[in-house]
Amino acid sequence: MSSAPSVPPDPIAQFTTWLGEAEKSGVPEPTAMAVATADADGMPNVRMLLLKGVEARGFVFYTNLGSPKAAELTANPRAVLCFYWNQVKRQVRVAGPVERVTDAEADAYFATRARLSQIGAWASHQSQPMAGHFELERNCAAVALRFGLGAVPRPPHWSGFRVVPESIEFWQEKPFRLHERIRFTRPQGHWQSQWIFP
Ligand SMILES: Cc1cc2nc3c(=O)[nH]c(=O)nc-3n(C[C@H](O)[C@H](O)[C@H](O)COP(=O)(O)O)c2cc1C
Repeated sequence: MSSAPSVPPDPIAQFTTWLGEAEKSGVPEPTAMAVATADADGMPNVRMLLLKGVEARGFVFYTNLGSPKAAELTANPRAVLCFYWNQVKRQVRVAGPVERVTDAEADAYFATRARLSQIGAWASHQSQPMAGHFELERNCAAVALRFGLGAVPRPPHWSGFRVVPESIEFWQEKPFRLHERIRFTRPQGHWQSQWIFP
């Protein structure tokens, strides 16, 4: 996409290529993305999350199921992801319905996390008021004591969501703001692409 415009056939493969190029170009957190949700009244919300998996089925992130974002996704299971990779001057937007990952997928990913991150997932009541940092440390100590030297299982309040893409847009900066944009949609289950004005 970056030189002579040609239409890449598969937007998931294109995303993976761009993510790899962002990594190679030194983007500090290439998997960081803004995740936009809206509540049942349509009030938008947005925050940064880390992408933990991407394949044909969709884009996966993990979080606390008691958090505002999880409540919003339950009330209104749709989201938009936005990546910006400054070093390569590229943006990608992904929009679509959201589903929960399976318990088996969440267990498998949770098992790869650092032990302290696993403990933190039990200890944190994400986005709830906290008396001070000591409260989090106290909770972490209690969780560490509870599990001792054994494996830390995935908390029931922690899992992942998958954004199933209905639309993926690639944006590449070009001189004089004559940027290249291509939008993929799949109205009948097959990806179609369309160049759009910058
Ligand atoms: C770069 C970056 C990556 C983050 N990744 C995650 C993540 O993967 N999962 C998560 O629950 N929160 C992550 N956070 C914290 C969220 O931005 C947010 O503060 C938290 O999830 C609570 O969001 P909510 O109140 O909208 O539910 C990250 C923050 C930053 C700045």
